[in-house]
Amino acid sequence: MEKIIDENIQGQSLVLDPKKGNQRKLFIESYGCQMNFSDSEIVASILAKEGFNTTQNLEDADLVLVNTCSIREKAELTVRKRLEKYNAVKKINPGMKVGVLGCMAERLKSKFLEEEKIVDLVVGPDAYKDLPNLIEEVDAGRNAVNVILSKEETYGDISPVRLQSNGVSAFVSITRGCDNMCTFCVVPFTRGRERSRDPQSIIKEIDELVDKNFKEITLLGQNVDSYLWYGGGLKKDFDKASDFQKATAVNFAKLLDMVALKYPKLRLRFTTSNPQDMTLDVIEVMAKHQNICKYIHLPIQSGSDRILKEMNRLHTRQEYFDLIDNIKRIIPNCAISQDIITGFPTETEKDHQDTLSLMEYVKYDYGFMFAYSERPGTLAERKMDDDVPEEVKKRRLAEIIALQRKHSEHRHRAFIGQTLEVLIEKESKKSDAHWSGRTTQNTVAVFPKENYQIGDFVMVHIDDCTSATLLGKAVGIAP
Ligand code: 5AD
Ligand code: SF4
Repeated sequence: MEKIIDENIQGQSLVLDPKKGNQRKLFIESYGCQMNFSDSEIVASILAKEGFNTTQNLEDADLVLVNTCSIREKAELTVRKRLEKYNAVKKINPGMKVGVLGCMAERLKSKFLEEEKIVDLVVGPDAYKDLPNLIEEVDAGRNAVNVILSKEETYGDISPVRLQSNGVSAFVSITRGCDNMCTFCVVPFTRGRERSRDPQSIIKEIDELVDKNFKEITLLGQNVDSYLWYGGGLKKDFDKASDFQKATAVNFAKLLDMVALKYPKLRLRFTTSNPQDMTLDVIEVMAKHQNICKYIHLPIQSGSDRILKEMNRLHTRQEYFDLIDNIKRIIPNCAISQDIITGFPTETEKDHQDTLSLMEYVKYDYGFMFAYSERPGTLAERKMDDDVPEEVKKRRLAEIIALQRKHSEHRHRAFIGQTLEVLIEKESKKSDAHWSGRTTQNTVAVFPKENYQIGDFVMVHIDDCTSATLLGKAVGIAP
């Protein structure tokens, strides 16, 4: 499952360089996972050809699009609140049209139009190419909906515009959808079945990024390890492929190897990995290439075998430990992060202790931790009672967060005294005299700017840390 940035964060409104001649103004805002942010770039690219330039000023907009997330109830409530704000603006600017994109659009479909009278347009994650037609409908005064999920759509032929990019790092999506059917997760319903993108179109997009001087790309998918290109079509139909298609198929290890070899100067990351799909080949390819970052986001969700089974996670605690042992053996300096859910239905105190002991074993560098939120339509919602009281979920979550903080600090302390390569991405939020960048392990490092520039790879001597950030001093450009 793809990493969710945090539903508490403000949605980000995105802007690109204006295209001459474009008259209409688009305000586009994204919530949720990186895939949504990446999709908004595809949407802006499609609409740039339809006469829309992006604006950061909601009051100015002719069209407001909100790219939504359904992963937890709170994420949906955030979007509902945002619609209230749009409604207030619409009163001043009645010509403004409002569209809902992404997972909530897919989950609620035309019901959205009844529930939220302010909405004119509802478009699911596979239907963005239909936006020009849908906007024509809306211009003619009719509501428009397209939430058809596709077997083929990967937007491989669209060159996304880079919205509000730092010009240093970019996302390139390689798969869409998910076939795993974890029982708590709404994603397989909102983003459909898994399909992979043509490697040639991935390479073409990376070529364009390299031409524009980008220094780091993250290959993106709900489950990147499951990437499989055999000429198009759904992953689940691979069995029916011809012998030739099977013999020439490209899996994730091959794709990663190919990209790392072709762009030795580009930093490569990927997210998200799924324990049951991650192979030793992928870990070996990571070890082989200096330019692949030594960091794996490897959600576990629970440390209890019984709960993993109820979640349909398709691997055991022991198999996860074996994978962790292999990662640490093959890439000793590899950072690992987790996603954990507390309070899944039937979770006992013993199950919770199993999660804590698993964390003690792995000692993750970071974590993204959530209280279970029942999602309509999922197997867990249909078959299980959401029976862990809210205060118990919260207490277990607090214990897990506290342990993770301890481990993050322990991990970060180990970097003190080392000199690490950091790619400068932006100014530090806390001080305009400091740069902020990330190490290969994805740890944020902050240091005085001196004469270095955004996009430089620099060697930074680490002399202190907090639980989230390394602090140091640059000692020169990286070799
Ligand atoms: N409740 C709480 N957390 C969830 N996640 C996915 N679905 C739910 C849910 N129903 C979490 C998982 C996943 C991350 C992106 O969001 O930990 O890996
Ligand atoms: Fe991730 Fe499982 Fe949801 Fe797929 S079903 S997106 S693997 S949590």
